Amino acid sequence: MNLMKLITALGLIAEGVIALYLQSMQSALQSVLKHSEAQPRKPNILFIITDDQDLQLDSISYTPLITKHIRDQGTFFRNHFVTTALCCPSRVSLWTGRQAHNTNVTDVHPPYGGYPKFVERGFNDDFLPLWLQWAGYDTYYTGKMFNAHTVDNYHSPHINGFNASDFLLDPYTYSYLNSTYQRNHEPPVSHEGEHTIDVITGKAQDFLDDALAGERPFFLAVSPVAPHSNVDPGNITSENFYMSAPIPLERHEHLFQGVRIPRTANFNPDQPSGVSWVNDLPLQNQSVVDYHDHFYRSRLRALQGVDELVGGLVTRLEESGQLDNTYIIYTSDNGFHIGQHRLPPGKTCGFEEDIRVPLFIRGPGVTKGYVHDAVTTHVDLAPTLFHFAGIPARDDFDGTAIPVAPEFEGERHEHVTVEYWGSAVVEGAYSGIGPGGSTMIPNNTYKSVRLLGQGYNLYYSVWCNNEHELYDLSTDPYQLNNLYPTNSQADINGTRILGRSLNQAINRLDALLMVLKSCQGETCIQPWDVLQPVDPVSTLQHALNEEYDGFYGAQPQVSFDWCDAGYIVEAEGAQVPLTSRHGVSWDVWV
Ligand SMILES: *[C@@H]1O[C@H](CO)[C@@H](O)[C@H](O)[C@H]1NC(C)=O
Ligand SMILES: *[C@@H]1O[C@H](CO)[C@@H](O)[C@H](O)[C@H]1NC(C)=O
Ligand SMILES: *[C@@H]1O[C@H](CO)[C@@H](O)[C@H](O)[C@H]1NC(C)=O
Ligand SMILES: *[C@@H]1O[C@H](CO)[C@@H](O)[C@H](O)[C@H]1NC(C)=O
Ligand SMILES: *[C@@H]1O[C@H](CO)[C@@H](O)[C@H](O)[C@H]1NC(C)=O
Ligand SMILES: *[C@@H]1O[C@H](CO)[C@@H](O)[C@H](O)[C@H]1NC(C)=O
Ligand SMILES: *[C@@H]1O[C@H](CO)[C@@H](O)[C@H](O)[C@H]1NC(C)=O
Repeated sequence: MNLMKLITALGLIAEGVIALYLQSMQSALQSVLKHSEAQPRKPNILFIITDDQDLQLDSISYTPLITKHIRDQGTFFRNHFVTTALCCPSRVSLWTGRQAHNTNVTDVHPPYGGYPKFVERGFNDDFLPLWLQWAGYDTYYTGKMFNAHTVDNYHSPHINGFNASDFLLDPYTYSYLNSTYQRNHEPPVSHEGEHTIDVITGKAQDFLDDALAGERPFFLAVSPVAPHSNVDPGNITSENFYMSAPIPLERHEHLFQGVRIPRTANFNPDQPSGVSWVNDLPLQNQSVVDYHDHFYRSRLRALQGVDELVGGLVTRLEESGQLDNTYIIYTSDNGFHIGQHRLPPGKTCGFEEDIRVPLFIRGPGVTKGYVHDAVTTHVDLAPTLFHFAGIPARDDFDGTAIPVAPEFEGERHEHVTVEYWGSAVVEGAYSGIGPGGSTMIPNNTYKSVRLLGQGYNLYYSVWCNNEHELYDLSTDPYQLNNLYPTNSQADINGTRILGRSLNQAINRLDALLMVLKSCQGETCIQPWDVLQPVDPVSTLQHALNEEYDGFYGAQPQVSFDWCDAGYIVEAEGAQVPLTSRHGVSWDVWV
């Protein structure tokens, strides 16, 4: 390939894109400025982020106050996805607006992740709370920030960017009845015998009072640990991380007696499903299923404390007269599965249960009682907060502001880039299924694209052992029928996608994933522009045009040379797709 020409071409394209972008930012900024003249102060932002809360298992039907105060008073984004289904990478993506391949914080602990890796990568001097402070906000945080942020390293260095903070610290983060919190630059304080949700409720209310008393608009983030599993520090070793059902507040222990995990088609199915280690999971017997139903109820009960916490904060905002000038965002760091595809409790997979999370937003101009179908992701949230705060978007954002108001005319996308490196983590009493009875299962490294468009609903993944998955969720919503051909014959049973053969659809999806796996900034938002810069397409449907069959048929394929536990480029096969140019056949560029 003529690399120099390619780079020059990409550079020219990037310039064009940036110019357009600056124009649109300028008009956005003007409208924001106009807006703020009329308003006494910029809107406040209250951000609530739960831990491991599912959307697919219906947890949001059990939190009436959150429904009443946020969902019904705002918009429910029902196609909202995380980009990495694990706490720390997902949170770092959220607070930086970047995909994990651009943060390289891909795990919960060093060398590939955790708080030390966040610091090492320079983000402690360059992330959302600092950007908001620079834009005139007072910033507050309480609850879990990152993994591997511990009683030993919390001060070396302290987390930057907050006017006041009170963080949960490892190894007591998930210890519901013996948590440790650490305020500002003070030493850690053990809360043995108190329930962690009672503790955080007091802290969040105090911070809200401080924030309301200030002169400047505020950003307050509250990150309760529920409904994450309970972890006793004595149960953490380097090979094992034993997690039991979450512990509700006493007053909620009796609730939901008869409730069970929804028995969807993928719940403990008769046939194994998925690929790699998932496909080896045994059918679960009745005692295991009963235990998992108990685990599920414990999560719903633990969430009741969060429901009350949120209700209390909204009431306080209402009393202060600031409710109508405050955006409230409710979401989770990743989803959760229990029993689907025979999986024990956990996250870390690319299935719907793990990557879909609740997202409710209410606030000035946000449509009330509306369910939005737009595809949105966690890397869209930092750009969305910038939009709320009237700050021009950064060019290293891998996402774009979410359309909260009907008149919003930002960029949209139909894809989600899903990525994962390292081990799957298995939770609950039957979790010792990894090598040597470990709760960790290695080689859970994969890259995927989730695509939702007019008439299609797809998930395509490539694993580090080069197994592939392709699910057509329009006919197979529970992802039980992997359409990816296991032999050289591409057209399994004549299955077609948008009227084209599987083979043609896979060529396009693979090329798209090739771009997404190393995209940066705008190329993460408009990836088809990298492939077809001059004869542009913006959807799979359009890219499936027969005219492009030769071009997509000649693309290098996404593949791995080996399974690694982190983002090691050498392990990850071809990196650069072919690019087509109008009037010049693509092969000139090879
Ligand atoms: C919050 O911190 C910012 C940055 O240090 C500072 O400018 C601002 O005055 C602080 N606000 C309050 C209420 O102390
Ligand atoms: C609770 O945590 C503290 C450390 O913060 C520890 O010293 C104590 O032993 C723990 N209590 C129990 C019952 O595990
Ligand atoms: C600690 O691990 C053991 C199993 O190894 C389990 O029985 C116990 O419930 C765990 N304790 C907690 C609090 O998670
Ligand atoms: C059910 O399966 C679990 C996990 O494999 C096993 O420990 C248990 O003994 C089984 N129970 C019965 C009744 O077979
Ligand atoms: C193709 O058809 C065969 C026989 O009807 C069936 O067993 C198989 O599951 C089908 N494959 C796919 C991927 O639909
Ligand atoms: C994980 O992948 C590595 C490298 O690709 C391989 O050597 C190893 O056997 C795999 N381990 C398991 C448990 O599959
Ligand atoms: C990501 O971090 C790991 C661990 O420090 C390093 O080995 C790897 O090269 C990094 N990857 C990239 C793409 O920078």
